[in-house]
Amino acid sequence: MARRLPPVIAIDGPSASGKGTVAQLVARDLGFHYLDSGALYRLVALAALEAGLNLDDGLRVSDIALNINTKFNGETVRIGSRDVTDAIRAESISGAASQVAALPGVRDALITRQRAFRRPPGLVADGRDMGSVVFPDATLKIFLTASPEERANRRHKQLMEKGIDASINTLLQDILDRDTRDTTRAAAPLQKSVDAVEIDTTGMTIAAVVAQVLAQCRHALRAP
Ligand code: C5P
Repeated sequence: MARRLPPVIAIDGPSASGKGTVAQLVARDLGFHYLDSGALYRLVALAALEAGLNLDDGLRVSDIALNINTKFNGETVRIGSRDVTDAIRAESISGAASQVAALPGVRDALITRQRAFRRPPGLVADGRDMGSVVFPDATLKIFLTASPEERANRRHKQLMEKGIDASINTLLQDILDRDTRDTTRAAAPLQKSVDAVEIDTTGMTIAAVVAQVLAQCRHALRAP
């Protein structure tokens, strides 16, 4: 008899749609592991910049993606023994991550690493292609959206809470640029899978989104 793989809840959507926060809370509630796939692209971007590479140098950047020695320890992300949890969240790394994410060699190199997070009792994975490419057999696929203006406002609030000053107009432009790059690239572009449940979170609280996703999870996890 074929061995059943642990269930996966795939949560995809554009930048600043609230995927990360929602996915972590859903994982906690279900007692599942959590994969922040964007962190892997951010790590590759940081390592490539630190190595002085050109971000469109497909061969060298893919080599970094294949060989990078990274550890996710709870909330802490490391390259070797160095804590890069905050460094990978810098706005400059957001743009660089979406550049390296357009390289097919980088995406291929990261697939095995991402699938390795699928362990019992289950996984909640967030990103752009969790349901379409990395876990096409996911138990449930959610696609979270929100208007660009709402996403820029959320990002602004997050940065202000961290004491970082930023202009809403610049943040909005960054979000629109990343949307364009993420949806128009040839390799695994951001798109809603036909079998994904779309939730437009504009005007919704995090708690309301989490409750809606959990209701979908309970239904999907119960199904034979
Ligand atoms: O989700 P986050 O904003 O941290 O991701 C950073 C960048 O990594 C995104 O803008 C996107 O280009 C890329 N990414 C991706 N596929 C994923 C996760 C992230 O292309 N599964």
